[in-house]
Amino acid sequence: MTRRPFLAGNWKMYKTGTEAKKYLGEFKALVGTLSDRDVALGVPAAAIREAADAAGGSGILIGAQNIHFEKEGAFTGEISADMVKDAGASFVILGHSERRQFFGDTDSWVSKKLRAALGASLIPVVCVGESLAQREAGKTNELVESQLKGSLEGLAPDEAGTLVIAYEPVWAIGTGKTATTDQAQEVHLFIRKKLLELLGEKAAAETRILYGGSVKPDNAKALLAQPDIDGALVGGAALKPDSFAAIVKYDG
Ligand code: 13P
Repeated sequence: MTRRPFLAGNWKMYKTGTEAKKYLGEFKALVGTLSDRDVALGVPAAAIREAADAAGGSGILIGAQNIHFEKEGAFTGEISADMVKDAGASFVILGHSERRQFFGDTDSWVSKKLRAALGASLIPVVCVGESLAQREAGKTNELVESQLKGSLEGLAPDEAGTLVIAYEPVWAIGTGKTATTDQAQEVHLFIRKKLLELLGEKAAAETRILYGGSVKPDNAKALLAQPDIDGALVGGAALKPDSFAAIVKYDG
């Protein structure tokens, strides 16, 4: 089964709307038209509208990096799925390890946010991944399984159509230490087996599983050549149009 590659940048807390506009102008010129893959950028909430306008008819998907799970209410500082959708987002990153580590996002919250995302027709990109201590203790699979089960809690097989999973080992994020292609493929295959148990054959075959953690132009191709790696979630290397363009244009 061929899954359409999904190459996503995660800008984290970098770039204003003005900077997003400038970036997209340069990025579009570098990338041109790529009809065989999805290219996406998760931008700060305040930059979504400008980024979406600048992406225009290019096909580049603009997304958010978080949402609250309620539709609306007295939740000062929060932003809903409908709000980011209205601003031009078509996907949302959920349960990124930085949200889990610094802002207390739990699997249970991620599962509620997933429901909110689907309710607003946003493509959910659900992140899982182990810390260095967990890997060294031989607990990678256990941890990834429990994050998957908790984050996908309540999701029915027929709701999984747009689901995207991102495997991001925490020890590889922003450290320059990439998982080897074998290490990444092993966990991706494990995730696919768990998707089979949790959501059935169709979802296991069709769900795109992205790798994230120090993806760069020089390692993207080898990672993306693995049978169960269907895309990338790129942090640092997505902040510059030329390096992200080099990644999304990998020849696969
Ligand atoms: P880096 O690519 O900077 O390691 O970040 C990965 C990441 O967290 C993407 O969500």
